[in-house]
Amino acid sequence: MNIRILNSREDLNATAATVIASLLLSKPQAMLGLATGSTPIGIYRHLADMYRKGQVSFAHAYSVNLDEYVGLAPEHPQSYRSFMNEHLFQHIDIPISHTRVPNGDALDLTAECAAHEQAILDHGPVDLQLLGIGHNGHIGFNEPGHSLTGATHVVDLKERTRSANARFFGDIDAVPRQAVTMGVGTILKAKQIMLVAFGAEKADIIRQALTGPVTTECPASLLQCHPDVLILLDQEAGGWFK
Ligand code: F6R
Repeated sequence: MNIRILNSREDLNATAATVIASLLLSKPQAMLGLATGSTPIGIYRHLADMYRKGQVSFAHAYSVNLDEYVGLAPEHPQSYRSFMNEHLFQHIDIPISHTRVPNGDALDLTAECAAHEQAILDHGPVDLQLLGIGHNGHIGFNEPGHSLTGATHVVDLKERTRSANARFFGDIDAVPRQAVTMGVGTILKAKQIMLVAFGAEKADIIRQALTGPVTTECPASLLQCHPDVLILLDQEAGGWFK
């Protein structure tokens, strides 16, 4: 794994955005694996800036998102589809038909999971998968446990995850109890993975994921098995790494 500690959060966002933009310059039709949550917001802001300045185009790119809450319609303000539209897609030139966020409101969620896998097969493999990390080591919504599921599937969210995400909903009771997520197998099929984390509250779990045993109890530790992983950390999240 290639681990880089950046001086500031701004540097972190700019570096991650540059990695994505460089991929698109060399491969305009690349498939990007995208994430939601607090971590990528600054990266998406940088990408939108770069697009406005004519430094990158997404016109031929495809994107596929990691996950979506079960039960939220795409137009729900807290859905990950709304998040992606608001923070990235509406600011750049990617055709919306080239973007895929799982539909957590699908009547047949099993078919929806299969359709997500098929979309990756149709336009993939994912060239670059962007990841954040949960406080419990989850990637996508693959929660720690005795086992993990390889392909896209429906998952029960841990209370820790629901309470961490309550900040977006205002009230923990409003946070869905389930999500559709790419499985760890799907994530590990990406050609390159870029995991980004900032803040002292991520330092412990990052250290565990990168230096501890590879275990389903810390799903991010499985990244140790991937041949091309870039880890971008700020000083607070990566200060332990000398
Ligand atoms: C989001 C996702 C999650 C988040 C993780 C960290 O699509 O898949 O794994 O990356 O929960 O969230 P933040 O960035 O809000 O700390």
